[in-house]
Amino acid sequence: MTWQTQSIAKREKELRAVLLAFMLCITFQGANCQLQVSPPGHTLVNAKAGSNVTLTVSFSGAADPVIRWFMDKLPVATWTVGATSPPDISDDHEEVLRIGPDGSLTFVNVPLGYSNNYTMEITKSGMDTANTTFTLKVYESIQNVTLSTMPDYASEGADRFTLKYSTLQGAAEQWMWFFNGMEIKSDSHYSVEEKSLVISRPKRNDTGRYKLFLKNPFSTATAHKNVTVLYGPDEPILEVSPAQPFYASGESLSLSCQADGLPTPSAAWTFGGQTLSDSHNGVLNLTNAQASQGGIYSCTLLNEKTGARRQKNMTVLIYERPLGNPQCSVQSVNSDLQYHCQWLGGTPMAQLSFPQLNTTSSGAGDLSLTVTASDDLNGKTVTCIAAHPLLQNNCTVTARGPVEFLPSVRTTVDLDGKIVVAIQCVSEASPKAVVSWSKGDEVISNGTKYQISADTTQLRIRDFNVSSFLIKNYTCICRNPLGSQRRDTQLQGPTISDSSLFPNQDGTIITLTWEVPPTAVVTGFDIQMKGPDLRSVSRNSSQTKSTSSGFRSIQRKPGSARSADVSVLDPELTYRFRIIARAGMTEGDPSEVHRIGPGDGLSGPAIAGIAAGIPCSLLFLFLLLGLIYTCVYYYKDKSPQARYPVSRTIEKAVAAQSDMTPHNLLTGGLKSPPDYNRLHQAPSERSVALPTFVPPPPVRVATTV
Ligand SMILES: *[C@@H]1O[C@H](CO)[C@@H](O)[C@H](O)[C@H]1NC(C)=O
Ligand SMILES: *[C@@H]1O[C@H](CO)[C@@H](O)[C@H](O)[C@H]1NC(C)=O
Ligand SMILES: *[C@@H]1O[C@H](CO)[C@@H](O)[C@H](O)[C@H]1NC(C)=O
Ligand SMILES: *[C@@H]1O[C@H](CO)[C@@H](O)[C@H](O)[C@H]1NC(C)=O
Ligand SMILES: *[C@@H]1O[C@H](CO)[C@@H](O)[C@H](O)[C@H]1NC(C)=O
Ligand SMILES: *[C@@H]1O[C@H](CO)[C@@H](O)[C@H](O)[C@H]1NC(C)=O
Ligand SMILES: *[C@@H]1O[C@H](CO)[C@@H](O)[C@H](O)[C@H]1NC(C)=O
Ligand SMILES: *[C@@H]1O[C@H](CO)[C@@H](O)[C@H](O)[C@H]1NC(C)=O
Ligand SMILES: *[C@@H]1O[C@H](CO)[C@@H](O)[C@H](O)[C@H]1NC(C)=O
Ligand SMILES: *[C@@H]1O[C@H](CO)[C@@H](O)[C@H](O)[C@H]1NC(C)=O
Ligand SMILES: *[C@@H]1O[C@H](CO)[C@@H](O)[C@H](O)[C@H]1NC(C)=O
Ligand SMILES: *[C@@H]1O[C@H](CO)[C@@H](O)[C@H](O)[C@H]1NC(C)=O
Repeated sequence: MTWQTQSIAKREKELRAVLLAFMLCITFQGANCQLQVSPPGHTLVNAKAGSNVTLTVSFSGAADPVIRWFMDKLPVATWTVGATSPPDISDDHEEVLRIGPDGSLTFVNVPLGYSNNYTMEITKSGMDTANTTFTLKVYESIQNVTLSTMPDYASEGADRFTLKYSTLQGAAEQWMWFFNGMEIKSDSHYSVEEKSLVISRPKRNDTGRYKLFLKNPFSTATAHKNVTVLYGPDEPILEVSPAQPFYASGESLSLSCQADGLPTPSAAWTFGGQTLSDSHNGVLNLTNAQASQGGIYSCTLLNEKTGARRQKNMTVLIYERPLGNPQCSVQSVNSDLQYHCQWLGGTPMAQLSFPQLNTTSSGAGDLSLTVTASDDLNGKTVTCIAAHPLLQNNCTVTARGPVEFLPSVRTTVDLDGKIVVAIQCVSEASPKAVVSWSKGDEVISNGTKYQISADTTQLRIRDFNVSSFLIKNYTCICRNPLGSQRRDTQLQGPTISDSSLFPNQDGTIITLTWEVPPTAVVTGFDIQMKGPDLRSVSRNSSQTKSTSSGFRSIQRKPGSARSADVSVLDPELTYRFRIIARAGMTEGDPSEVHRIGPGDGLSGPAIAGIAAGIPCSLLFLFLLLGLIYTCVYYYKDKSPQARYPVSRTIEKAVAAQSDMTPHNLLTGGLKSPPDYNRLHQAPSERSVALPTFVPPPPVRVATTV
């Protein structure tokens, strides 16, 4: 309204100026007066829709000119100033347009559509035409501004995001955008366009409150919109608690997966291609974890609004200890030693190595290392170091060459009644010794007569011919890559090496004990007695004092027996006992005779006998001394060998001293090798002397059973 008053005041001044010019023109009888119109040129008039607005003009230079108004180029009204006839206004605009008496154009309740250029042309015949132009802008007040977005939501990484406004009514002449209170200027990020704000490549920090300010000459309006820029999932953060480089089976752990994002991304765990449904908010609990659950866990995060997804992997190591303890062993491979270490099971397999043997080679779970046998490995304890992430362990093995040993001889009778002699050569060794067998110079191979056990330590000689046993010289050699031990076994016929008699207190029961040489072939024993018949158990036939003239067998014992009891003896009487070893049908020489009975030499006849016997005894003593001298002389050269119980002829004389050793050896097994070795090395050295000293004993074949 102020603008209108000003404009009216301005027009009044202009009008006065025109009138003054008109007066001057008349005063100075200017024949050449011109039509003039004001305001000159182009005038802008703003109007509010529905108001009355007048485009005021004034003219000079002529009276009663013709005035024409054009809307753009279209004539809309014509009037001759001062004429009584009403202005000629085009039908379309009759309602709105009026021409005032001074030629001004008035718009009544001007509608929005009358924004246009209006030109007034004034003419008078004989004079030049004058004109002036107005631009009329009709505005409505701005109402109900709404902001909309395109697309519906902003997301980080999208190309562009547009905020648009629309009004229910009223066009804006000016618009301003604000973000969190700051005015937005067009730049590389924002572009302010006529009806929109375009944000290129929106970021999460573009989230905030957007305000629009609209203005036209008659009103202002504002509108707000809160814009949220969706984003994520960002780089996922995978964690495992408790945090450890690895886990032992049975432990519990919890995996978590999360990432920043809007809205908060949902997480899903997959393992081995399977989606694990038991995770919750990205937390996956593994209770009592097993080694099979170790591996790559994959977490996929999804922004459910934008569809953006992201995956990240994590490796979980779950270890299981191997079972038991590592096992070390050593074997022979050809002539080399193969050290072996094994510790199976577990995840991962234990790393095994023999650092003493080879610092570079190692194996997982199972390691075999072949090395050349050498003396310094003999008896050396080699350690296998077994390293597993959960525990360390080790085992040791010592390789040894065969040690000295004693062959043992066992004689049995098979179902056909044939003698089977088994010779066993077991030498402690690591790796286990392999035994090769020979007879004299002839190698023995596995067959029917000679059977070698699968582990080669035993040789079984079937159908053993006792009659030729003396020439049987069996050799066994125990070998492993670290050495060998050789033993010869000279089998002997059935022989008793030592025997004793032990009576009980009242002399009614005796116990006979005996031994055989370790290399003797024996299948059984006959216990023989000379003297009165034994008392029958039934009392009625007791006290029989009948005396048999020779030894007779009273008991038979198996080859394993080493003692026999004889009972129901009469302590008043004298008995004699001896033992005969047998091999099948073959009988050996009898043992020494053991006598039991009332004291010899206490009876009168005995004393007489002794008295008569003294000279004889002296003579015997002399002869005995001579014999001993001969023996001692002989022993000077051959003393070690001479103790060997080779001769049954001298057996009785030397029985006590020579046979004690084998006795111990046999019962004691392998307890005292040195004596035994001496015993058995002896025959070879003695072989030349043997025939001169003792003729080969005859083999007696039993005639009675
Ligand atoms: C505009 O003019 C018309 C007719 O002369 C009149 O009826 C009306 O009241 C006027 N309007 C205003 C807002 O002055
Ligand atoms: C009015 O005139 C001006 C300049 O002469 C022109 O730019 C404008 O477009 C015109 N308006 C209309 C509605 O014709
Ligand atoms: C208005 O007058 C000027 C000279 O004052 C002239 O150049 C122009 O063509 C005229 N316009 C009209 C529409 O008659
Ligand atoms: C426009 O806004 C006014 C209040 O500002 C409201 O009463 C009216 O209902 C709105 N009109 C529309 C079409 O939304
Ligand atoms: C948003 O962050 C970017 C960097 O990422 C920065 O260049 C920009 O100025 C920030 N915008 C606002 C509105 O803070
Ligand atoms: C927009 O956010 C502001 C706070 O930043 C809050 O006060 C206002 O209510 C929000 N408007 C809408 C429409 O959510
Ligand atoms: C995982 O274990 C924690 C406690 O250890 C518990 O709070 C959580 O609910 C468990 N989550 C699932 C998915 O079982
Ligand atoms: C995760 O592991 C799976 C196989 O388990 C593989 O296909 C995928 O490429 C891995 N992803 C990443 C990010 O390494
Ligand atoms: C150790 O073993 C590796 C192969 O496993 C072999 O190449 C290397 O010669 C061995 N080293 C020794 C010192 O024996
Ligand atoms: C072998 O294991 C025992 C315990 O089992 C340990 O005391 C010893 O130190 C280990 N030896 C080596 C060489 O690792
Ligand atoms: C037994 O035979 C081996 C060779 O085969 C020989 O060296 C040794 O002297 C022999 N022993 C006897 C008692 O003949
Ligand atoms: C010898 O033969 C018997 C069967 O005849 C067999 O059981 C044994 O294993 C063989 N011994 C060797 C060392 O091959």
